Amino acid sequence: MSGLAILGTGRCLPSRCVTNQELSRMVDTSDEWIAARTGIRQRYLSTPEETLTGQAAQAARLAMERAGVTPDQIGLVVAGTFTPDHASPSLACEVHGELGLDSTTPAFDVNAACTGFLTALETARCFLESSSLEGKIALVIGAEQVSRVLNMEDRSTCVLFGDGAGAALVRLSPDHPYTCRLGCRGSAEILRVGGLASPDHWVRMDGKAVFRFATTTVPQALEDLAAQAGTTLDQVDWVVCHQANGRIIDHVIKKLGADPARFYKNIHRYANTSSASIILALDEMAREGLLQPGQKVACVGFGAGLTWGATLLTW
Ligand code: UT7
Repeated sequence: MSGLAILGTGRCLPSRCVTNQELSRMVDTSDEWIAARTGIRQRYLSTPEETLTGQAAQAARLAMERAGVTPDQIGLVVAGTFTPDHASPSLACEVHGELGLDSTTPAFDVNAACTGFLTALETARCFLESSSLEGKIALVIGAEQVSRVLNMEDRSTCVLFGDGAGAALVRLSPDHPYTCRLGCRGSAEILRVGGLASPDHWVRMDGKAVFRFATTTVPQALEDLAAQAGTTLDQVDWVVCHQANGRIIDHVIKKLGADPARFYKNIHRYANTSSASIILALDEMAREGLLQPGQKVACVGFGAGLTWGATLLTW
């Protein structure tokens, strides 16, 4: 298996930032409760005029600019999302149209909930291995408007999520070792979001059960990932966990006996942006100069499904 290089990243956030204080005027909650239970201080929520296609295309344009990639070099678009503007066409197809990509470039979405970006990345890598895409670059997107499926009267869910879009351009590269593990527990009971067969379309979640799933699955996934890559977690420079709850990340650190300084956290700024959270974090880290060429970055996601995924990248 060839490695995978990330050539450039970009992100786009909605224009409206909503603080915990503002939310506490809409629903029976408080900044203290939200911050203490989750670490979240604010989130970005889209206005009705802001489409997910527009946000994802903007993130993609930034990634293209930074990577010096032109539309004709892009041979594939894969988007991780469960909140596209339309059930069909997919978000990836709509972004394809916005960017004016070639008609020989396939585009499709994958829905693995909060594991969406890592699943889209692995899907793109598999496709890039096929002869028809030889030498091509893939555009991989993680984007959500979770606010579309939030019941703003349900304090147990509406305070936890936010919107955002991120994009990465990737290419096969033997100089960038890459390892990925994906899995699923196959359950719709603990966490689900509406759909055509449901009486409502809101996020429904057993928070404690998700918490238990995450704090057992994530440490195991990270250890198995390192073993599969022939390394140890001590040799990994950064760990980027899906930003669902700061306390989940703290539990993972404790369970692994790991150095907290190597675990990136930005949940206080964005809340849980589902498929977007890992690529938002990677882009932010890149912009802050935290990621240096050659560094090993372990990313780990979990979400509805119950899906999980862990990826070891070489920056
Ligand atoms: O991408 C994956 C998505 N999901 C997750 O990662 C969620 C993982 N789970 C969690 O992060 C936590 O379970 C939560 C933050 C969701 C909840 O924390 P908890 O410690 O499990 O709280 P709880 O659900 O047991 O609720 C404790 C109390 C309840 O009141 P009573 O029954 O003790 O009087 C809730 O009604 O807190 C109340 N509560 C709130 N109070 C103020 C629930 N939501 C709120 C709120 N503000 N927003």
